[in-house]
Amino acid sequence: MTCGSDEILRMAGKPDNGAVLQLESVSVHYTRYSRGIVPRPIEIVRAVNDVSLSLGRNEILGIVGGSGSGKSSLVRVAMLIERPTHGSIRFNSVELTELTPAELAATRSGMQIVFQNPAASLNPDLTVERVVREPLEALRIGSRAERRERVTEALRMVGLDAPDARGRPCEFSGGQQQRIAIARAIVVEPRVLFADEAISALDVSIGARILDLLLELRERLHFSMLFVSHDLAVVQRICDRVGVLYRGSLVELADTTTLYRQPQHEYTRTLLEAARHTELHA
Ligand SMILES: Nc1ncnc2c1ncn2[C@@H]1O[C@H](COP(=O)(O)OP(=O)(O)O)[C@@H](O)[C@H]1O
Ligand SMILES: [Mg+2]
Repeated sequence: MTCGSDEILRMAGKPDNGAVLQLESVSVHYTRYSRGIVPRPIEIVRAVNDVSLSLGRNEILGIVGGSGSGKSSLVRVAMLIERPTHGSIRFNSVELTELTPAELAATRSGMQIVFQNPAASLNPDLTVERVVREPLEALRIGSRAERRERVTEALRMVGLDAPDARGRPCEFSGGQQQRIAIARAIVVEPRVLFADEAISALDVSIGARILDLLLELRERLHFSMLFVSHDLAVVQRICDRVGVLYRGSLVELADTTTLYRQPQHEYTRTLLEAARHTELHA
């Protein structure tokens, strides 16, 4: 069964005025070009295909799917890092696709992202303090003293202290680097945090601690979270609802208990089977 857009909207609870983020019929199509002196378009990749979903206030929405199913493209388009080929994206009821670049930059600050690979997302030339302060400067938030205070507080919340702030990201372990990336994301007090495979590259025990940190921060700062992962056990543990992406389409979206107990789509069942198999043989 493939759910049509209307069906998904119904399952997603639309109209949902409590939603902090709403995607309606969003598609992202990439054009692949041939190599050579005069590149020619050879293929349209439908990375995200007519996806509708909403993220409620304080909600953790999981997005699962295999490699190449469109998870990262969905995150990028939700933040308007990627422009949608079609569709509407509303953040706090503001239609993002209609904003000017300056308006978009200001509005988008309410959405922050933590990537899989912190090393690639942290500028190695800056001190940790500068890395975390940068978004405040870019968005002209606070006075110098206030910025300093907010950076110290953000670092403290992720478990780093003053001496850490003077180091450079590359001097830290993967888990600590992810803490720096999280401090950078929360320092602007986002309403939505996207975690795109944020713990997937870490050792299991370190990943578990980072996950606990994200949950603890969410309790304190009250942001909603779109949690992208291929780890179905983690998603089951922390998410309120889960959406399943298959070849760019959202084939199923349900509350977590229902999805894991009564998966409707064949692809969801395949994913769950594979996860159980891995668990048994881990
Ligand atoms: N910038 C791009 N140009 C062309 N194709 C892309 C681009 N980014 C992603 N894709 C393709 O879109 C599909 C979805 O990719 P992605 O969103 O990264 O999936 P996932 O995060 O689930 O692995 C893949 O087939 C990928 O090769
Ligand atoms: Mg990805």
